[in-house]
Amino acid sequence: MRCIAIANQKGGAAKTTTTVNLAAALAEQARRVLVVDLDPQGNSTDWLGVVGAGRGVFEFLTGQASLADVTIGSTTANIDVVAATRALQGIERALASEVGSELTLRRKLRAPEAAGWDYMLIDTPPTLGILTLNGLTAARELIVPVETHVLALQGVAQLIETFIAVRERLNPELALAGVVACRVDSRTRHSADVVERLRGTFKGTMYRTEIRENIRLAEAPSFRRPILQYDPRSSGAADYRALAAEVLAQETDDKTSLRAAD
Ligand SMILES: Nc1ncnc2c1ncn2[C@@H]1O[C@H](COP(=O)(O)OP(=O)(O)OP(=O)(O)O)[C@@H](O)[C@H]1O
Ligand SMILES: [Mg+2]
Repeated sequence: MRCIAIANQKGGAAKTTTTVNLAAALAEQARRVLVVDLDPQGNSTDWLGVVGAGRGVFEFLTGQASLADVTIGSTTANIDVVAATRALQGIERALASEVGSELTLRRKLRAPEAAGWDYMLIDTPPTLGILTLNGLTAARELIVPVETHVLALQGVAQLIETFIAVRERLNPELALAGVVACRVDSRTRHSADVVERLRGTFKGTMYRTEIRENIRLAEAPSFRRPILQYDPRSSGAADYRALAAEVLAQETDDKTSLRAAD
């Protein structure tokens, strides 16, 4: 199984949009995907049509429920969800007394039942708090969506520092799978400039696919369907299929070479 965290502490960077629609595009290619929603906002949970989950990430992390107990089928074939419920807002307090609380998710996922999927995609909140650190520590790979706006570049630099710190102190195996430019608006020079700067910095660790600005992607959550179902012919669907193809092509990559590339 490939375990990939989708992270960027900047709010609105397209983490959730990337998690849900990459999951759907991988599922379309017959991969079984588990989406773990570490964001108390629960946007991925809602978008994937999981309503009224009684238990989720909180109960799993606090040892009140097993992975099987909290895994819920979504409205999309091949995608299961571990939901963010309202209780997740209190996770900081719940884990405060635990030694090594950044490692909780990693430890729990070692259970043999975690082997039932081809991909685990972990959506993370817009902070560098305990939940994001749990995601980065449990994952083997990191995908960083970046909104193509100049204000986003600073945030990426900060995230890379966190990535390096996590690798040094908590999870030496973490590899940067790639940075993906999101909300690219080909009509503006500004957007193209930002993409160019990102490519200059990240070179081979940037996905070739650019996710274009597409209103259909913004509409899809209201219908609780990934873009591939909501509007399969939209540019958003095409872009996330292209991103999935690149991610699938990495299946054979040696993770140490992913590390060397960053
Ligand atoms: N390619 C796109 N085209 C149009 N709108 C987009 C695109 N990608 C994301 N959005 C919109 O941008 C906003 C932020 O996206 P999203 O919720 O995925 O970001 P996020 O990083 O998960 O945010 P948060 O930090 O709050 O979790 C949403 O309103 C979403 O619909
Ligand atoms: Mg989100």
